[in-house]
Amino acid sequence: TTVEKQGFRHFMLKEIYEQPSVVRSCLETYLDASWSKEKAEEKSPINLGLAGELCDNVDYIQIVACGTSWNASMVGKYLLEQLAGIPTMVQYASEFRYSPAPMLRNTLTIGVTQSGETADTLAALEMEKQRRMALESPYNAQILGITNRPESTLAHMVDRIINTQAGIEIGVAATKSFIAQLMGFYCLAIDLAYRRQHLSADKLESLVKGLRELPNQIELILSQQEKQIEELAHEFIDTQDFIFLGRGINFPIALEGALKLKEISYIHAEGYPAGEMKHGPIALLDAKVPVVAIAMPGDVHDKVLSNAQEAKARDARLIGVTPTDDNEARATFNDLLFVPHVDELLSPIISVIPLQLLAYHIAARRGLDVDQPRNLAKSVTVE
Ligand code: G6P
Repeated sequence: TTVEKQGFRHFMLKEIYEQPSVVRSCLETYLDASWSKEKAEEKSPINLGLAGELCDNVDYIQIVACGTSWNASMVGKYLLEQLAGIPTMVQYASEFRYSPAPMLRNTLTIGVTQSGETADTLAALEMEKQRRMALESPYNAQILGITNRPESTLAHMVDRIINTQAGIEIGVAATKSFIAQLMGFYCLAIDLAYRRQHLSADKLESLVKGLRELPNQIELILSQQEKQIEELAHEFIDTQDFIFLGRGINFPIALEGALKLKEISYIHAEGYPAGEMKHGPIALLDAKVPVVAIAMPGDVHDKVLSNAQEAKARDARLIGVTPTDDNEARATFNDLLFVPHVDELLSPIISVIPLQLLAYHIAARRGLDVDQPRNLAKSVTVE
């Protein structure tokens, strides 16, 4: 009913709009408000309540997840590797169950599931627990869950959870729970980086400052870009294929943008690392296939622009997600979805917002059942 949707046409749109407050509440819960860089000697800026035995001697991290949670885990991998320096593998739970990697020592296993009930994820974690149970340190099982449901089966099965606290999500296509999982990974990666003394006090301070700015920046995108994105969506009434390109930490956001569009609009969409486009997807390109390129400032910005220009040379319509309003960006992109300028490592939280809105408005414009897309379930409790 309209009451529950608080005036929004669909739950998905309402949940997209809840994201600034989801980020805020995560920061309130897990960031130590009294921390400053002068205190960096005494304490971590993050308080996740993780016991030392779970995370002090971690040499490797392996993550199992499905769907959107898998995409969030891929962002997590970049953070855990780049901020904390811990080699991290991300596996589809359904694959890990039947072909797990050989066991490595001192491994933290993380199960990421919004619902805490996805059968494949639970079974993969159970298998890992069993496989390691008989073994002693350094091969014993250390399992952390990241979930939005502290009462779920997952929560009972693991040593510890990070409760993502996004509130109940009704739209089948995950939005606010994805953002909340990303926040969980930021907190975890910063905390592990602190424990391992992998970041300077200055870097910690600038990350914390950047995190605190995110809620207002998301609000800005919602208030300034939604109308434009809604209008843009009208242009894709007959589109059958979409390509999403990103590099580095925004590669998983290209995957997530494509997944959102597939799930609710039934348009075929692929997310690709921009540098791989020339090894296949470029053959698909013509004037009928729009390309969305995530071009956030940082190490790979210029590379993404040149990959986008290759797509343009094949007549593709190019949509850029970028804060860059210069001549090169204007000459490259047919449409610009502006977002605030942030640290590259924090940029997934920002770059995913216009992609959620784009998927939403294309599906809504097509008159589809956005909150209950065909053939999908909110949580898949069968193998
Ligand atoms: C289903 C949902 C997806 C979700 C996936 C994993 O396929 O439709 O939106 O990402 O399950 O769910 P989980 O609860 O484990 O995160």
